[in-house]
Amino acid sequence: MHTLFWRWSSLATPMQLSDTVRMSDQSVFDVDVWTLTRFVMEKGRKVKGATGELTQLINSLLTAIKAISSAVRKAGLNHLQGLAGQVNVTGDEQKKLDVLSNDLVINMLNASYGTCLMVSEENENVIYTPAEKRGKYIVCFDPLDGSSNIDCLAPIGTIFAIYKRTSDGEPTVKDALQPGNQIVCAGYALYGSATVVAISTGTGVDFFMLDPAIGEFILTDRNVKIKKKGKIYSINEGYAKYFEPAVNEYIKHKKYPEDGSAPYGARYVGSMVSDIHRTIAYGGIFMYPANEKSPKGKLRLLYECNPIAFLIEQAGGIATTGTQRVLDIIPEGLHQRAPFVAGSPDDVEEYLSFVKKQKK
Ligand code: AHM
Ligand code: MG
Repeated sequence: MHTLFWRWSSLATPMQLSDTVRMSDQSVFDVDVWTLTRFVMEKGRKVKGATGELTQLINSLLTAIKAISSAVRKAGLNHLQGLAGQVNVTGDEQKKLDVLSNDLVINMLNASYGTCLMVSEENENVIYTPAEKRGKYIVCFDPLDGSSNIDCLAPIGTIFAIYKRTSDGEPTVKDALQPGNQIVCAGYALYGSATVVAISTGTGVDFFMLDPAIGEFILTDRNVKIKKKGKIYSINEGYAKYFEPAVNEYIKHKKYPEDGSAPYGARYVGSMVSDIHRTIAYGGIFMYPANEKSPKGKLRLLYECNPIAFLIEQAGGIATTGTQRVLDIIPEGLHQRAPFVAGSPDDVEEYLSFVKKQKK
């Protein structure tokens, strides 16, 4: 069987196939393939004084992601869907796949010898790496985001942010409460029609597609940039009754533009990773603002808002609460929420102009 490597042509920056051979059936075989593992290793080698600890950590995390991807694909057949009989710290019913994904990420991170502390959506308290396996990084993650979509087979994802520890001695909860502007590396995996990983170490965002034939993530889009302005707005409009007037005014403007331009399309999967991946790929705006029922919105700062905000900014977009840059929030609690609006710079700026107008 030939493995066909392709590039996702809808995205802005084309990737040069490194060294390709055309097969008799016209498929193209890459004989110098850029896997995510190789990419991370090469990047690590260029950092002065790097020990390889971060590289090892990321590679362990990728193993967990591959295993989650495989479990997600087999979920229906293996009856992994459905309730695991527990309720997680945020009050949601925990599904079997959530439990499995959480265990996978924790175990693989412990095995990387790169972490000392973890924060997971599924655990009320911080998770300490066993003393003999500790390294210098802290990882905040949502092992399986969009869990309400598991049973209907809609796309779901894994989100993570990696920080360097700044204190000495025994790690404490305080070490995990760093603002997003201290992120060393962040990313997400989207288990959609294909499994894709978007990752950034602070020098742009790159996309890697999982090639099931070789079990590796292949670089498909390098230094992805979000469009300056999109044509899609993404929000759970069912909560309109509870939104602040500025949000409803903005949505109205997208549906009935006063300047004669075409209305925006509406898309909302209800899986943040999926809605964000589309926003980065096609442009536009994603919103989970505060509302009367959830005064701080729904999304969690440490393992949902911050990593996604980091990626959005690295792709040239903006991520805001409506009043401040998401990455500048000083966290106070492991599971705190933050209002979240992110996407194409012109779209987010336009939203902010509606917020400002309301304040006057
Ligand atoms: P989860 O972590 O329990 O899956 O919740 C987070 C998800 C996000 O992926 C998504 O953006 C949001 O919840 C959707 O919430 P709602 O159903 O209120 O629109
Ligand atoms: Mg989540």
